[in-house]
Amino acid sequence: MAESMTGLHRSHRCTEVSNKLIDEEVTVMGWVQKRRNLGSLIFIDLRDRSGLLQIVFDEPQIGKEGFEKAGTLRSEFVVAVEGVVKKREAAINENLKTGDIEIIASSLRILSEAETPPFPIEEGITTKDELRLKHRYLDLRRPDLQRNLILRSKVCNIVRSFLCDEGFIEIETPILQKSTPEGARDYLVPSRIHKGEFYALPQSPQLFKQLLMCSGYDRYFQIAKCFRDEDLRADRQPEFTQIDMELSFVDVDDVLDVNERLLAKVFKEAIGVEVSLPLQRMPWQEAMDRFGSDKPDIRFGMELTDVSFVVEGSEFGVFTSALENGGSVRGINVEGQGSMSRKKIDKLVEFAKGCGAKGLAYLCVNDDGTYKSSFAKFMTEEELDNLVKEMNGKPGDLLLFAADKNKIVWEVLGSLRCELAKQLELIPENEFKFLWITDFPLFEYSEEQERFVAMHHPFTMPYEEDLDMITTDPAKVRAKAYDIVLNGCELGGGSIRIHRQDIQEKMFEALGFTKEEAHDRFGFLLDAFSYGVPPHAGLAYGLDRMIMLMTGADSIRDVIAFPKVKDASCLMTNAPSKVDTEQLEELSLEVVEEKSKE
Ligand code: AMO
Ligand code: AMP
Repeated sequence: MAESMTGLHRSHRCTEVSNKLIDEEVTVMGWVQKRRNLGSLIFIDLRDRSGLLQIVFDEPQIGKEGFEKAGTLRSEFVVAVEGVVKKREAAINENLKTGDIEIIASSLRILSEAETPPFPIEEGITTKDELRLKHRYLDLRRPDLQRNLILRSKVCNIVRSFLCDEGFIEIETPILQKSTPEGARDYLVPSRIHKGEFYALPQSPQLFKQLLMCSGYDRYFQIAKCFRDEDLRADRQPEFTQIDMELSFVDVDDVLDVNERLLAKVFKEAIGVEVSLPLQRMPWQEAMDRFGSDKPDIRFGMELTDVSFVVEGSEFGVFTSALENGGSVRGINVEGQGSMSRKKIDKLVEFAKGCGAKGLAYLCVNDDGTYKSSFAKFMTEEELDNLVKEMNGKPGDLLLFAADKNKIVWEVLGSLRCELAKQLELIPENEFKFLWITDFPLFEYSEEQERFVAMHHPFTMPYEEDLDMITTDPAKVRAKAYDIVLNGCELGGGSIRIHRQDIQEKMFEALGFTKEEAHDRFGFLLDAFSYGVPPHAGLAYGLDRMIMLMTGADSIRDVIAFPKVKDASCLMTNAPSKVDTEQLEELSLEVVEEKSKE
């Protein structure tokens, strides 16, 4: 029977009780981790969010009734215990913060009983994700998840206090919005009053924060929920949180400077990691050429080498046809792996194909200086020697090459590089390597839409010296955009915004918007800009990703209290779900049943 806690006050959390309180009375409350009966004594480990504390029930101290009650305790019962703190006589547990003390109970109340949980409430369990997520409220009792969420709260506090001290103002922006141009699919909300019309949930507060700059708020921030209907991955959720900011009267250096100091403070205060400033910067082109990625992991080497000019005269059609089609041939040197088995190399070829490659050419430099290669027969001895030299190949090295359009070559070798580093354990642990990627292309060509689209968003400022190319050679225009990358993960990104009407018009034109279309979608922003707009810029971090990297979690699911699974559903609440016909009618909506797939 559940008892009330009338008259009781918790004096300490479990691990707040320490050997400084010996012989003092305390009142603790929490969940029974486990019970052990040792003849005339009953022990329980009591758990709360702070950790574990040993309680001892001894009949002479607690009385017959209390002792019998203690004998009925089972895991996850919620109890309140009054007692005296004592030094442990035996079985000191070095692994426990409270391992040298125990509470000798003088009273026990069972505040609630519990069913046997479907999985153990312990650190590092191997229970299937589905079961854990279905009972997320139990999963969240586990110390690993509690630590993650407590850290998350701490980080938010540090961010708030830092930004407020730097003169930022926290302002909320609407959740029911007009669709924003961030590129992902919107979540739509039907309007009851305006039948047939929809709000969109924000993909980010982008337009509103720019409007706040027009309104003179100067420095804004928000810890903002964002929604994107995109395919989920380990580092993507349909709803996630941004640390979002915007600043007026600034250029790139100003934005990066305040953000570097923010990152250094957050990492130092939250997890004790010293970040040395200034952070490294790398233009996008260099990142692609050296690492095949715009979010390179620079904790290890294995950089890409462009060998196009070395192989252009060869007879190897795979290489030469890639070059003829405007592509390139690039390689990575997997040092010391020249004796990798054929089977393992074949696996790498399969991996490369999974990344879009047509194949992967390899060359092993044998210890005696001869070569074993999938393409040696198509090349002269001299060509092979030059290739190995260009790749810095030494006896015992494995050289891997991809030939295709640049985009594919980068994708393939960039991914292969990370995969090999993982397999060969080349990534140092507990290292945090930050990197700014700058000078992104303003546009990228969308094969799907057969037009140029904004790589960041249409309000990103191009380099002034590249302005003329917006209409003549859009692919070459560089943007004043920057991403912050940590250990190969895109932590955040932002840009200097266009505040000049002529440039914005050019931009819309290049993106294929007519004046009317531009006005229809972003009219309010363009109007606002016509009343005096300060030069402004901003940036947003993915908070979930930041916490994932800080905690070393494998997925952002582990740092979000109630996450969704791959198909964007919630296994606990079963959202999304069907709604009543009346609810639909009120919204003038009708569900068209999908024809059953034959
Ligand atoms: P961007 O689209 O790059 O920029 O988003 C900023 C950061 O948000 C995180 N992020 C995500 N995290 C989890 N799940 C997702 N689905 C997801 N999508 C993005 C990433 C990313 O770097 N308004 C601009 C910022 C600006 O220009 O100021 C924006 O939203 O860590
Ligand atoms: P093939 O002549 O198709 O047998 O290819 C010879 C070698 O080149 C094989 O090792 C292929 O895996 C490799 N190869 C094929 N296409 C490419 C490509 N686009 N880039 C790199 N290597 C390739």
